[in-house]
Amino acid sequence: MDLGVTAIDTASNYLGHHSHRTLATVAGDLLSKFSISTKVGYFEDGHSLLPGRLRRAVEKTVKDLGREPDTILLHNPEHSAPDAETLTHACAALADAAAAGLCGHWGISTWDPRPLIGLDVPRPDTLMVRSGLLVGSSVLDAAEALVTGWQPAVVWGMSPFGGSTTAPVWARIDPRVFLRVPAATAVQAAFRVAFALPGVEAVAVGTDEAEHLRELLGGLAYEIDTEVLRSYRQLLRQSA
Ligand SMILES: NC(=O)c1ccc[n+]([C@@H]2O[C@H](COP(=O)([O-])OP(=O)(O)OC[C@H]3O[C@@H](n4cnc5c(N)ncnc54)[C@H](OP(=O)(O)O)[C@@H]3O)[C@@H](O)[C@H]2O)c1
Repeated sequence: MDLGVTAIDTASNYLGHHSHRTLATVAGDLLSKFSISTKVGYFEDGHSLLPGRLRRAVEKTVKDLGREPDTILLHNPEHSAPDAETLTHACAALADAAAAGLCGHWGISTWDPRPLIGLDVPRPDTLMVRSGLLVGSSVLDAAEALVTGWQPAVVWGMSPFGGSTTAPVWARIDPRVFLRVPAATAVQAAFRVAFALPGVEAVAVGTDEAEHLRELLGGLAYEIDTEVLRSYRQLLRQSA
């Protein structure tokens, strides 16, 4: 079944820290056909931004995957509450790894960007942030502030359903109100809106079902009603 999927996003700590080796085993020769992004920062003994540990984590990533990933992201740096110097050194470790050919690009993935505002870092290739209707006003504002401050070459979104499409919240809202033509399914609409809250070029979504992925891809054709989106952001700010 050709879904046109070309990219896989993972992290070194997913699947109990076995994600890279599992991916390499399951995908086999196919792995070279995908663009792979992954994240480092979480270790078996916790989170760390120490440059030496990050460098070794990148080297282990290459070994476990059996190839260089296209992008390596610093995973939730806010977890270690870094000051500007610590964050800069951590970013430099990834930038150096990219310069050495251990990955194509480097960047930062942040679940809660608020503590990172105002910290200067070397310009990342990629910034990955939460996106979609479950993201609160202050997190959206913080993500946009980082985009303005850091000027990443690309911005990606993640976790458009907050990990579950069956959480009670989804029964209480109809994401189709954000579309110009509400002919999509609710899941398609929520996925489509995740490209605009905040504005991102790609969204990493999790699914075990090829049909679910097909449904999501079908949702990309729908246009967002920018007026509704603007009103929504205003309401979010007012209620924050
Ligand atoms: N930085 C961080 O701390 C962090 C944390 C969490 C996630 N992330 C990133 O976000 C990515 C995705 O996150 P996630 O998987 O946790 O959450 P998600 O993408 O928001 O939600 C995944 C859930 O959505 C369901 N789903 C997807 N398409 C569906 C469809 N068409 N119909 C019905 N259900 C559907 C999946 O169920 P089925 O399997 O049944 O389709 C799965 O349970 C991850 O790969 C990662 O890159 C980052």
